Amino acid sequence: MPRKILLGVSGCIAAYKACEMLREMQRRGCDVEVVMTANATRFVSPHTFSALSGRPALVDNFADGADPIPHIRMAEECDAFLVAPCTANVAAKIAAGIADDLLTTCALAAHDRLLVAPAMNVHMYESPATRQNLDALRARGVRVIEPGSGYLACGDTGKGRLADVSDIVSAALDPAVEAPLERLPLAGRKVMVTAGPTVEWLDPVRYVSNPSSGKMGFAVAKAARDAGADVTLVSGPVSLDDPDGVKVVRVNTASEMLEACEEHFDGCDIAVFAAAVSDYRPRMRSERKLKKGVDGESLACIEMVENPDILATLASRKAPGQFVVGFAAETDHVVEHAREKLQSKGADMVVANQVGEHKGFREDGNAAFLVSDRGSLELPYMPKDELAAKILEVACDNFKVC
Ligand code: CTP
Repeated sequence: MPRKILLGVSGCIAAYKACEMLREMQRRGCDVEVVMTANATRFVSPHTFSALSGRPALVDNFADGADPIPHIRMAEECDAFLVAPCTANVAAKIAAGIADDLLTTCALAAHDRLLVAPAMNVHMYESPATRQNLDALRARGVRVIEPGSGYLACGDTGKGRLADVSDIVSAALDPAVEAPLERLPLAGRKVMVTAGPTVEWLDPVRYVSNPSSGKMGFAVAKAARDAGADVTLVSGPVSLDDPDGVKVVRVNTASEMLEACEEHFDGCDIAVFAAAVSDYRPRMRSERKLKKGVDGESLACIEMVENPDILATLASRKAPGQFVVGFAAETDHVVEHAREKLQSKGADMVVANQVGEHKGFREDGNAAFLVSDRGSLELPYMPKDELAAKILEVACDNFKVC
C-alpha cells in the first residue's frame, strides 16, 4: 500500500515549494491529497495541485456535495498530515484548536499524525506568540520541522525560511510520525548534551581552541528533542542557531562548560558529551593585549595547565539509572582508544569517530563505532542528523537495561 500523505498548504510565498514537495513525495511512492487555505490559493492555484496530485485540491468544507464530511474522510485516509508551508496564523489556530476552514479542521481530526513546516518572516517566527504556539504543538507530539536561516522573501535575513523540501518529505515519510507522544522513546526523559569547542583565552584577542563546528552535538540535541525528551544543550562558541524546543546554554571556556553541566547533570537520564573540550588552557590569562616586544617571552612560550575533564568528572557522580555517552575523536586505533576512554572516563558508551583532514570536524556527515561493554557496533558514513538518531536509538536500548 502506498503511504498516503495529506498535504496542507497555507498562504505564504513558500506555497510554490509545496508543488515540488508533492512531486517528491510521489517520486518516493506516496499517494498525495492536497488541502489548501483560501489564502494559499492566492499564491498557487488549486488547479496546479489538482493536476499534480490527480485529485481535486480542496479548500472549502462545503464545496463537494459528494463528500459531505471531507475533513473526517481526509483525516481517516491519511497516514500523515503535513502542513507545509505552515504560516504563523495557521500554527496559532492549530495550537488553539481553532477549526474554521477545511485545513484546520483536518488538523484537529488528524492531530495524532500531524507535522508542520513553518515558514514566515524572522520577526514573526521569533515572536513570543509563535514560539509558544510551536512549543505547544511540539509538547503534544506534533513534529515541527524547523525552518532554515537565510535571506527571506521580505528582504530580512534570519530564521523562518521553509526547511529543505527533501528534509520535509523525509520527515513526512518517517513512520514514527504516527507514534503517540507517550510512546516516543524519550518521552518524559531529560537529556543533556555538550557541543562545540571551548575557547581558552590567553589575552583579549588570542585563544586556544579547535575547529569543532558543534554540528554533531546539535544534531544529537535535536534527535533527543524529536524523540520526546526535555533537552538541555550546553554549547561552546559555534555559529549554529539555537535549535527550537531545546534549552541552550552558551559557554566559552571548559570551566564554564563544567559549571553549566554540573547544574543540569543531576536531573538528566541521558548525558551525551559531544563537545570538543580544549584539554589545556593557558596558565595566565592577561586582561590586556600582550604586545610583541614587551611580552615576547609570554607569547613565545605559553605555559599551559590541564582543564577539568567534564565527562569523567560527571560520570564519576553518575546515579543508578543515568546513562552517559562520551565521544572519542581519534586519528588511529579508533576502537582501541574508545575502549580505553570507556574505562578511564566511566562512560556507558563511547561514540568513536576517526578525525583528520576532511574527517569529523566541520563535516556534515560521519561514520562511527559505538563502543560499550556489550561490544562495538560499526555505523557507516551518514549525515550527522541520521547518525545522531542512531546513537540515541542505541543509547535508549542500553538505557532501558542499565
Ligand atoms: N571531554 C570532556 N572534557 C575534557 C576533555 C574531553 O568532557 N576536558 C570529553 C569529550 O566531550 C568526549 C570525550 O571526553 O566525550 C573524549 O574526548 P577526546 O577529545 O576524544 O579525548 P581526550 O579526553 O581529550 O583525550 P585525548 O585528547 O588524549 O585523545
